[in-house]
Amino acid sequence: MTFENDNRVDGIGKMLISSRSLAEYQAMFALTDDDLSVRILDCPSGAADFTSAVSNLGGNVTACDAAYFGNSPDNLATIATSETERGNRYVRAHAEEYEWTFFADPDEHQHVRQHAAQQFAAHVRQHPGHYIPGRLPALPFPDDSFDLVLSSHLLFSYADSLDHAFHLDAITELMRVTSGELRIFPLVAIGSAEPYSQLVELLSELRARGIAGRNVGVDYKFQKGASHMLVCHHE
Ligand SMILES: C[S@@+](CC[C@H](N)C(=O)[O-])C[C@H]1O[C@@H](n2cnc3c(N)ncnc32)[C@H](O)[C@@H]1O
Repeated sequence: MTFENDNRVDGIGKMLISSRSLAEYQAMFALTDDDLSVRILDCPSGAADFTSAVSNLGGNVTACDAAYFGNSPDNLATIATSETERGNRYVRAHAEEYEWTFFADPDEHQHVRQHAAQQFAAHVRQHPGHYIPGRLPALPFPDDSFDLVLSSHLLFSYADSLDHAFHLDAITELMRVTSGELRIFPLVAIGSAEPYSQLVELLSELRARGIAGRNVGVDYKFQKGASHMLVCHHE
């Protein structure tokens, strides 16, 4: 089964396999140069160019996503292009949901995301071993395989389709594979400017599992209300 056929999630018709850029990741997750020098997992990585860009800088990044099941690198390259166009159509149709500062306008959004999709396409063809199929809440990595795990635009973004138990189990699993931090962005659902309604309950449940989480403001400004990441540590 490819994720394309999975009807559990349909935030923008069906879940977008998006292509955010390195600059977006740096801003969303407040990444420093030191952060980029450790073992990083990007999950879900979609068609983002983070793995390509950081690998080209000499970093150690693994990409993991459910969309990598059953899709060849050529398929993924094609999907990245078409999904970038689909995402840009959504942004143009819902321009009022976004702040136009990080991107000046929908044309710049399209240009940046197309470039990221192209970088992803080239890298996944040349280095397919960096792109590991995986479906939360179960990941194919041993405990503590990474020092930093980044997770953007799945948890909380699709809270209308992914239930609370999924959020709790997915965060627990993402924490299992990191010896250090997990950073999740954003805390709001697509089309909403309000933080995940069960966040207080979730933080309490995570604490019972030995995981401490705190909200940290970031400089990335695009979706209205999406101004914080959740940073999790082992207690
Ligand atoms: C909106 S994209 C975000 C991709 C990337 N982080 C970015 O910001 O460009 C959401 C991704 O989540 C992936 N996905 C959905 N459910 C998943 C699951 N249970 N486990 C892993 N990946 C999943 C989808 O295939 C899709 O690529």
